[in-house]
Amino acid sequence: MLAKSLLGSLVRESRRALSTSAARTGGGGLMIHRDTNENNSETPFEFSEENKNRANAIMSIYPEGHKRAAVIPLLDLAQRQNGGWLPISAMHHVAEFIGMPRMRVYEVATFYTMFMRNPVGKYHVQICTTTPCWLRGSDEILKAIKENLNIKVGETSADKMFTLSEVECLGACVNAPMVQINDDYYEDLTEKDMHEILEDLKAGKKPPAGPRSGRYAAEPFGKLTSLTEKPPGPGDFVRADL
Ligand code: FES
Repeated sequence: MLAKSLLGSLVRESRRALSTSAARTGGGGLMIHRDTNENNSETPFEFSEENKNRANAIMSIYPEGHKRAAVIPLLDLAQRQNGGWLPISAMHHVAEFIGMPRMRVYEVATFYTMFMRNPVGKYHVQICTTTPCWLRGSDEILKAIKENLNIKVGETSADKMFTLSEVECLGACVNAPMVQINDDYYEDLTEKDMHEILEDLKAGKKPPAGPRSGRYAAEPFGKLTSLTEKPPGPGDFVRADL
């Protein structure tokens, strides 16, 4: 009986709660906005001169009547200018810049998880825990991040250096497990790699992005097992009917 209940608890321990959505840090989660001291319609935001030029260049790509399609790149530009998150005043600025209703901008900013609607740390650590990464050990990588930064998913470190988010597939499954930190992907991770990357960032260094396993990209770890012959050229084919 005791053995049975012990086995049951072990199984429960090792099972991930699949019904639980990943905790979000402002990008997803609640669609509502609540005014705070740092995020309200009076929060100062305006494109810098440099970004105004960029925004105009982006707008010029789109033909008349379709300028609204620039909303995503412009929101991204605003978010980058604002240190990685998008106050509601920046959404209003983008709406005005493009000439579209604020509500349409809210719809886009709340739909795409790439837009952070609350302040984030200097480094936004996004860990993928979708099935391929999970099978390759994302639970251990997440544990290493939590231990190293002493924060939970959805939190920002006290020094405002790191924010941790748990996200769905980031499209680098062949190099699982992986994390995205700001614009960089760190792949083929072990717990040791994760600690090293975070320590480098804390020390003001920029750890090289990409696979940590020695792979250049997503090639096999061993030797090639397919496509090993020299590919035929156009002259190697002879049509039987000629
Ligand atoms: Fe993690 Fe696709 S499952 S990148």
